[in-house]
Amino acid sequence: MALCLARRACLANASASAAGLACGGRLHLAAVAPAAARPARRPVTTAATAEPQKNEDLPSFPFARPHGLEPPAEYGDMRRRCPVSPARLFDGSRVWLVTKHKDVCEALKDDRFSKVRTHPNFPELSAGGKAAAVSGRAPTFVDMDPPQHTKYRGMVEHAFSREASEALRPSIRRHVDSLIDAMVAHGPPADLNEAFAMQLPFRVMFDMLGVPPEDAPFLTSNVAARSSGSSTAKDAAAAADDLVRYMEKLVRSKEDKPGDDLVSQLVVRQLRPGHMTREELVQTAFLLLVAGNATVATQINLGVITLLQHPDQLAAMKADPRVMVPKAVEEILRYHTGSSYALKRVAKQDVQVDGQLVREGEGVIALNQSANRDEDVFRSPDTFDIRREPNPQLGFGYGTHVCVAEWLSRVELQEALEALFVRLPGLKLAVPESQIAFSDPRRDVGVAGQLPITW
Ligand code: HEM
Repeated sequence: MALCLARRACLANASASAAGLACGGRLHLAAVAPAAARPARRPVTTAATAEPQKNEDLPSFPFARPHGLEPPAEYGDMRRRCPVSPARLFDGSRVWLVTKHKDVCEALKDDRFSKVRTHPNFPELSAGGKAAAVSGRAPTFVDMDPPQHTKYRGMVEHAFSREASEALRPSIRRHVDSLIDAMVAHGPPADLNEAFAMQLPFRVMFDMLGVPPEDAPFLTSNVAARSSGSSTAKDAAAAADDLVRYMEKLVRSKEDKPGDDLVSQLVVRQLRPGHMTREELVQTAFLLLVAGNATVATQINLGVITLLQHPDQLAAMKADPRVMVPKAVEEILRYHTGSSYALKRVAKQDVQVDGQLVREGEGVIALNQSANRDEDVFRSPDTFDIRREPNPQLGFGYGTHVCVAEWLSRVELQEALEALFVRLPGLKLAVPESQIAFSDPRRDVGVAGQLPITW
């Protein structure tokens, strides 16, 4: 059996103790003791007894998914052997990977960890990420710590509350229906990704922000160019500049003539009284425009694929949609964690995570994709089960920065999946699953190209 990378990294430090496994600079007896004899884990404060591992000996992160839809195998190994493991990033720097559900939750609500990306040790996954972090643009609340984060997030949070999201359900349903109408009018087959999954979150966000419908094609293609892994860095940067310029124009038009959309509300309640600058407003609107489209689309695509793979569960969902559709959505979010590299932090002071000392200035990535498969929390975690109860999935993150649009996304996903399977009862893939291209195995899980369906 191949030795897992995490374990190899731990073993690389085995000189620290003949009896114990050094796990990122601490002795990790649990990793070698038989399960029954495992000592209770306790904080280890004698890290100095273990030789620090060299960064070049650490496994390189991100790990690859072994198959389009499966999480990296390393995560399960780390949860068992070395739940807070060191790894090496693209630039050779070290990061701590947090893999257990309880530790991910603890870390994400711990304000000793910062999300300020301009910190020199903030763990970025690529050179592009490093460059974006110091772009000079006004930061948005996604990259702030409290109390600044609380202030700016508070300016938009009301628009995404559970109640506000439920109030949008009828208009979301109308968008879903009109997209399905268009697919039906065209006739099968259709590319679900392009014709439906990518369109829905855009339409919902355009409504919220008060984007005129005629601007939709320009925005859609620029957001796609900005976010697509296949764009060159130059093209992606140019698309982002175009979007920012567009948002500046949109904000000015709302200043002239406010409507009842979110950008107008921000103009009236925040910009005019001086709580927010125009640049901050522009960046906030930009953030909301680009933040969630791909993730919503991913969950729709993967939700359809996975429900088709489990016809008994699909039948149960269709038989009792009021109860089972929301449960199916939670399970899809757990099973296919679509935003799995977002939970990056840097320690503002020394912090113990599950007994591992993370020193001030060290980076941490809380792996919600691993937490969502934690066998201590989810029975048979690798089984897709829409009846799962409870389901404390962490697909939207947790704590201070938990997805601001989690309720809106749930409504979109519920409406989308219910309508697709009810209105297109014969819905199935139009090609064998083996022909579907999934995203790069070292990036977030998703469908990379077309998702051909028929009905
Ligand atoms: C299924 C769809 C979605 C998933 C799985 C998802 C996932 C996430 C996750 C994991 C985080 C936490 C990041 C962290 O802690 O560092 C997050 C934050 C965020 N998400 Fe989403 N998201 C989704 C949809 C959306 C949508 C539609 C929007 C559009 C407004 C959005 C906007 C945001 C923003 C602005 C934040 C930052 C919150 C903060 O820093 O306080 N997300 N999302």
